[in-house]
Amino acid sequence: MIIEVLTLFPEMFPGPLAAGVTGRGLASGLVTLRVLNLRDYTHDRHRQVDDVPYGGGAGMVLKPEPIFEAVRARAGKGPVILLTPQGELLNQRLVRELASHDDLYLICGRYEGVDERVAAHLVDREISIGDYVLTGGELPAMVLIDAVSRLVAGVLGSEESPKDESFDQHLLEYPHYTRPAEFEGHPVPEVLRSGHHAEIERWRRAQAAERTRRRRPDLLDHRG
Ligand SMILES: C[S@@+](CC[C@H](N)C(=O)[O-])C[C@H]1O[C@@H](n2cnc3c(N)ncnc32)[C@H](O)[C@@H]1O
Repeated sequence: MIIEVLTLFPEMFPGPLAAGVTGRGLASGLVTLRVLNLRDYTHDRHRQVDDVPYGGGAGMVLKPEPIFEAVRARAGKGPVILLTPQGELLNQRLVRELASHDDLYLICGRYEGVDERVAAHLVDREISIGDYVLTGGELPAMVLIDAVSRLVAGVLGSEESPKDESFDQHLLEYPHYTRPAEFEGHPVPEVLRSGHHAEIERWRRAQAAERTRRRRPDLLDHRG
């Protein structure tokens, strides 16, 4: 998969994406990250990417021309995504859908945000990573890239399968334990040490259902 990122801060990439599983995905070529500097699509002496908002108010707004030019120069055909707190919330269903494309194009906003004509006439989707406001779209882009790239075939090792994870089947995952069998007086549930696979499977299913009911009943409401 090829992921292109349009940003005012290319030096932020790959950043944390270079570590661990995502780093392996990048190093192996299964995921290609192309980081594009928004200023490279300006044509004035000051390489200006922002301007004051029409109607007044604090802060600056990213101009439409460099963003339109950058997106129109791309080779890929996959969705163009604007990271914005006003977008649809990123969830595992959306991550799976994004991971099914050969390429993605991510636009990172800054300052007060991006001229509305970008959202209205250029991008395919607007995506938010949560109901809070960050200073820029780079961290949201990294969150999206991390979540998507671990679903690209071959990025996770076979022992790290994404099957049965939280949000699969609208459930949170069951709890995990490792050695020691007892830690500071807290034992590992007996059933997990029994070696009885059917019992373990039953226990895990019940635990997943119970903790979803307790912690995230909203997930159960969205089964369908
Ligand atoms: C300070 S924010 C602009 C917020 C905008 N004035 C508003 O109230 O909707 C600057 C940029 O950070 C990014 N950003 C901030 N929070 C985000 C979130 N929760 N999800 C995705 N992107 C976000 C967007 O790219 C946004 O254009």
